[in-house]
Amino acid sequence: MKVSEAITERVQSAIPVDLQIQGAHLYDKTRRWVTRTDGEKIFVERPIPPVEDVELADIDLSNPFLYRQGRWQSYYERLRNEAPVHYLPDSAFGPFWSITRHADIVAVDKNHEVFSAEPLIVIGTPPRFLDITMFIAMDPPRHDRQRAAVQGVVAPKNLREMEGLIRSRVQEVLDDLPVNEPFDWVQRVSIELTARMLATLLDFPYEQRRKLVEWSDLATSMEQTNGGPSDLDEIFVGMREMARGLSEHWHDKAARTAAGEEPGFDLITMLQSNDNTKDLISRPMEFVGNLLLLIVGGNDTTRNSMSGGVLALNRFPDQFEKLKANPDLIPNMTSEVIRWQTPLAYMRRIATRDTVLNGQFIRKGDKVVMWYASGNRDDRVFDRPDDFIIDRANVRNHISFGFGVHRCMGNRLAELQLRILWEELLPRFENIEVIGEPEYVQSNFVRGISKMMVRLTPKS
Ligand code: HEM
Repeated sequence: MKVSEAITERVQSAIPVDLQIQGAHLYDKTRRWVTRTDGEKIFVERPIPPVEDVELADIDLSNPFLYRQGRWQSYYERLRNEAPVHYLPDSAFGPFWSITRHADIVAVDKNHEVFSAEPLIVIGTPPRFLDITMFIAMDPPRHDRQRAAVQGVVAPKNLREMEGLIRSRVQEVLDDLPVNEPFDWVQRVSIELTARMLATLLDFPYEQRRKLVEWSDLATSMEQTNGGPSDLDEIFVGMREMARGLSEHWHDKAARTAAGEEPGFDLITMLQSNDNTKDLISRPMEFVGNLLLLIVGGNDTTRNSMSGGVLALNRFPDQFEKLKANPDLIPNMTSEVIRWQTPLAYMRRIATRDTVLNGQFIRKGDKVVMWYASGNRDDRVFDRPDDFIIDRANVRNHISFGFGVHRCMGNRLAELQLRILWEELLPRFENIEVIGEPEYVQSNFVRGISKMMVRLTPKS
C-alpha cells in the first residue's frame, strides 16, 4: 500500500462514515455551484427512432429511454448482427464498447485479468469523493477474500435453514392480497417480499425493512451512473442516513453477541465472525459499500423477477396454461423468468491491456460494457429468444447472473425465493391478470417495472 493510501485509510477510519458522506456532499454541492451544472440533465426524453433509421456508428445503448420506450430488442439485435463489438466514441458517459453476443460476453466476463471490474461496474462515474468500495468492483485477490467472508450466508445449508421462513413470509403477503379488484403488484408483492427477505438476510429490525429498499433504490438511481432521473442532494442525504443506520445496526449486533446472544445465520454475524471482515466497520467506505452491495444485489433484481414473471405469463398465456397443468415446471420457469427479464442489463469492465475481441482492437483503459440483456436474446444460443418458454431446454445457459469470478453470489437464493413464490401462488389463484400497460424504470442498468396493476381471481 502507498503511504498516501495508508494515510487516507487512517483518516477515514477515524471519521464516522455518515460524516464522511456529509463531507462528500458538501464538496460536491460546492463543485456543482462553482461549475453551475446543478440540475443539468444528461438525458432528455425524445421518441426513440426505429433502429433502421439510425447510423450504426451512432447507436447508443446507454440511453435509458431505449428501455423505457421498449425499443431495446431491435437495437441489440442490429448490433449482434452487424457490429457485435461496437465502439461509441462519444456518449453522455464518454466512449465505450458494447458487447452484445452471448459468446463474447462470456469471454469478457471470464477473463478478469484483461477485463477489470475496478473501479466501478456501471457505465458512468459517481460524484467525486463518494468512493464507496464493494467487492463486485474489485479484482482478485482482494475480491476473493471479501466474497469468501460473506458467501456462507447463501450456502446450501443456510438456504435450507431459511426456506421455511421465506415460505411463511410469502404466505403472509399473499394471504393479505385483495381479490377481484385492481392493485399494484410491484408495491404489494415484489417490493414487500424483497424487503422482508433483505431484513432477514441482515437481521435488520423487521419494522424498518422498507428503509433497506429505500436506500437501495436511491443508490441505484444515480443519473451519473445509469442515466436515470435523480436528485443528488436527496441521494447524499439518503446515503448518510443509510450509513448511520447500518453502523448502529452493526454495533447493536456486536453488543448483543458480546452479551451472549446465540449467533444467527445472518450476514452481519458472518462478517463479525470472519477474520478478514470483523473490523470492517473501521474501513467505513468499504463497510457501507459491501453492505450496500448485498442490499442492492438482492433488491431490484429479485423484485423485478417477481414482477417480470407475472408479466411474461400474461404476454404468453399458453405458457400460463402449461404451468397450471404442470407445476413441476416451476424451477425451469424461474430460470426462464430470469433470462427473459434480465434484471440487470449490463456490467462494465475496463481493459487492463491492449487486446482483440471478435476481431476488434480494444485499447488498454477502454470501457467495455457486457450487455447481458442482449446475450440472453441471442438466437445463436436461444431458439425464439424473445418468446417466454417455461420448459426451454437450455435455459440455464442464460447470463443474467454473469459469469466468472463475479458470478452472482445470491443466484440460488433468488431462485429459491421465486420458486417459493410460484409454489404458493398457483394453489391460491386461478388467474393473475395484468391490467393495462406496466410502467418501466428509467435506467440503462436496472431492467425494472415500477408499477403494474393486476387483478387476482381466486381458485373456486
Ligand atoms: C453479482 C444479477 C440476486 C448478491 C451479480 C452480478 C449480476 C447479478 C449480473 C454480476 C455478475 C458478473 O459481474 O459477472 C443478479 C440477478 C439476481 C440477483 C439477476 C436475481 C434474479 C442477488 C441476491 C443477492 C445478490 C438475492 C443477495 C445475496 C450479489 C452479490 C454480487 C452479485 C454480492 C457480487 C458478486 C461478486 O462480485 O463476486 N448479481 N443478482 N444477487 N450479486 Fe446478484
